[in-house]
Amino acid sequence: MADSPNLPVDLSGVSESLLWNLYQRAAEASRRDAILRDPKAVELVRLIDYPFAEKFGKGKLGQWQALRVLCFDQQVGAFLREHPCGQVVALGEGLETQFWRVDNGQVRWLGVELPDIVELRGQLLPDEEPRQRTVACSALSEEWMEHVDASDGLLLTAQGLFMYFQPEEVHALITTCARRFPGAALVFDGVPPWFSERTLAGKMKTSGGYASPPMPWAIDAAEKDRLRALPNVAEVSDLIPPAGRGLLRGHVYPLLNRLSAVREMGLTGLPLQRLCFGHDPAAG
Ligand SMILES: C[S@@+](CC[C@H](N)C(=O)[O-])C[C@H]1O[C@@H](n2cnc3c(N)ncnc32)[C@H](O)[C@@H]1O
Repeated sequence: MADSPNLPVDLSGVSESLLWNLYQRAAEASRRDAILRDPKAVELVRLIDYPFAEKFGKGKLGQWQALRVLCFDQQVGAFLREHPCGQVVALGEGLETQFWRVDNGQVRWLGVELPDIVELRGQLLPDEEPRQRTVACSALSEEWMEHVDASDGLLLTAQGLFMYFQPEEVHALITTCARRFPGAALVFDGVPPWFSERTLAGKMKTSGGYASPPMPWAIDAAEKDRLRALPNVAEVSDLIPPAGRGLLRGHVYPLLNRLSAVREMGLTGLPLQRLCFGHDPAAG
């Protein structure tokens, strides 16, 4: 790959947010004392012609993003230890490089993205293994579900996706997955209500003027109860990010994160959830 930016990328709305995630990951991974290794993300940011620093700032949220990413990686790692040949489905995969961070040489990987992002991903991060596949469709459609093979275990992930959906869309998607993939698990993140309200009011802006797209779906204790009440949802549990670097993220936040009220407020990082589907959808 060339070293100077030579691939102009022009995205808007929710799709542009994938560049924010990529940039923060790369910012963290570029540090000597990085808590996340992600050489592919660093390489991509070098390659893409986009005013990253101008729009998103200096990457100060790199560690914040990396801890969220590491929590997802830990979940995938734990799943693969139990199901080495299992399938991981990454909904709204954007330019995530997680496959290369967690690949055990056997995992089967299915990315699901909107068609224009699949095209971009094909140029920048083409599937390299026969075990990798990307489906171009909305995560909200049932089309991608036809490509799922849960015979060796199935983990669904949705990193940085559900918050952009309407609550009824999130509920319908989870209900369909719980019916179609009994015994599988779903790992996802969300935003707390105060954060959602700020995005809806257009108040979540970087110093460079980049505004977070509206995030209509938020998660709190009441929403977790609503998810628990969906058919064939057997368990909804909070995930706790690992400890990071420095006094705050290395010591204070891990202590605070033991309190569910703190996790729900989203002040130490976005709330992360793991949801398990029951084995018998007919049992409700
Ligand atoms: C914040 S980015 C997250 C990307 C990636 N998961 C990450 O963490 O770096 C949100 C992603 O959701 C994708 N997206 C938005 N609506 C979608 C939909 N209905 N179906 C599939 N992907 C969608 C966008 O294209 C974008 O890549």
